[in-house]
Amino acid sequence: MQTLLVIDDETHVFEAFARNFDSPSLRVISASSGEEGLDRIVREKPDVVVMDIRLGGMDGLSVLKEIRGRDMRVPVIMMTAYSTTQTTIEAMKHGAFDYLLKPFDVPKMEEVIQAALKASRDMRVKVSLTQEPDAGSEDLGIVGKSSAMQEVFKKIGLVSASHATVLITGESGTGKELAAKAIYQNGGRREKPFLAINCAAIPENLLESELFGHEKGAFTSAIGQRIGKFEQCNGGTLFLDEIGDLPMTVQTKLLRVLQEGEFQRVGGNQTIHVDVRLIAATNKDLARMIEEKKFREDLYYRLNVLRIHLPPLRERKEDIPLLVKYFLNRFAAKSPDRPPTHPTGSGTVSGSGRGRPKQISEPGMRLLVDYSWPGNVRELENIVQRATVHAAGDVILPKDIEWHAHAGGKKEDAAGVRPSLDSALDVLFDQALTDSQYKLMANIERYMIARALSKTGGNQVQAAKILGITRATLRKRIEKYKIRSKLEVN
Ligand SMILES: Nc1ncnc2c1ncn2[C@@H]1O[C@H](COP(=O)(O)OP(=O)(O)OP(=O)(O)O)[C@@H](O)[C@H]1O
Ligand SMILES: [Mg+2]
Repeated sequence: MQTLLVIDDETHVFEAFARNFDSPSLRVISASSGEEGLDRIVREKPDVVVMDIRLGGMDGLSVLKEIRGRDMRVPVIMMTAYSTTQTTIEAMKHGAFDYLLKPFDVPKMEEVIQAALKASRDMRVKVSLTQEPDAGSEDLGIVGKSSAMQEVFKKIGLVSASHATVLITGESGTGKELAAKAIYQNGGRREKPFLAINCAAIPENLLESELFGHEKGAFTSAIGQRIGKFEQCNGGTLFLDEIGDLPMTVQTKLLRVLQEGEFQRVGGNQTIHVDVRLIAATNKDLARMIEEKKFREDLYYRLNVLRIHLPPLRERKEDIPLLVKYFLNRFAAKSPDRPPTHPTGSGTVSGSGRGRPKQISEPGMRLLVDYSWPGNVRELENIVQRATVHAAGDVILPKDIEWHAHAGGKKEDAAGVRPSLDSALDVLFDQALTDSQYKLMANIERYMIARALSKTGGNQVQAAKILGITRATLRKRIEKYKIRSKLEVN
């Protein structure tokens, strides 16, 4: 459970936060002055602090400096009536996480609080490098015993000891973000903040200002000065995720920060010096982007000082059983409600707060090991999670494993699978409408077979299992429909 501390002398402000955020996973506590707030921080170690910039007694800015002097990692959000006052800007320069304008806009409040809680988890939830994950622990693990992952662990150790820029590469869902957090947590800057920015998630025209800030009047909507992430994170570690999506203009500016440790805010001429360690990640092929003139070569060499490549899951299948057990344990820990299948005399759910992990049958595990995992560990995590929900008993059977809902791997893509299947079926149906000789059912069958082969990386045994036909039948159909390659339908 995380804790949010609200420091404000008006009780209705605390009530607004409690009403909107108090939940079984978030405890909201209050303090009515800066002094009381500092006291509660020592005693309760909140995950995030939200504080009025104007307080009686010790003012907000002084309290912020005091908090940061003791622990730079706690995200502190300032509440203010104006974003453009000097005090708000000062607060951002002193590392405030963000600010919220009063009166509150609830969706914005939700967005900022959730972002701060995530930042706090990134810093606090320990990421351990492990072969055999500890079932009872809350920590996250980078699980793996394959020699490829042992290499990764070694590299994370080496890289953590240095302050140099790190580039993490690997396909989607291979654990790049997890590796970034491990590097931060094991490094010399672990007492300083860690901020993550997803370059692909921020509109291109806003990204430069998000990273470097802007001066008043830099563009039409720049009504006041704004402090960017580089300044805010001074002394700490910045994780630039999806760096392959960085626009050219921003690439140039980033190169200069890496070379000289300095930059100018958008529309400004004052040179600002910062000391920020950069960890970058991408699933794109930067070398190819350089050839296509979409990524600066000089920036690539600057980023690529230390490189960690996360191997795709299909190249380290021996890690799959370990990962499956790890996820089964985690899901059990998160679902304390699951009653035991063989109730004890008391008839109640065990009081330990943990559900019992489900097991996986051997054929079920074989299916998982045989699959090609285009969405890597994230896809495995999703499928194991679904299977635990589907399995009626204590043991996961092959029928509980649903493949189709997770093509592509990325969480965001999961919902996108249906439209793509729908549109494929639409195309087939439209052809049937316009062609009187068209064999609709045969074409659907052909499509499903090609798709199953594509999903399984061409593994016929597994594709047959998915389709519910024998391997001999599958072979006949492949011949009949002249399905040439596993990549024919995607
Ligand atoms: N080796 C691993 N052990 C345990 N969990 C892992 C491992 N690798 C990845 N995960 C889990 O898989 C999910 C995806 O990992 P992560 O977000 O780090 O991937 P990513 O490489 O950043 O993916 P993307 O390119 O799509 O952003 C997370 O829930 C993460 O905890
Ligand atoms: Mg990622």
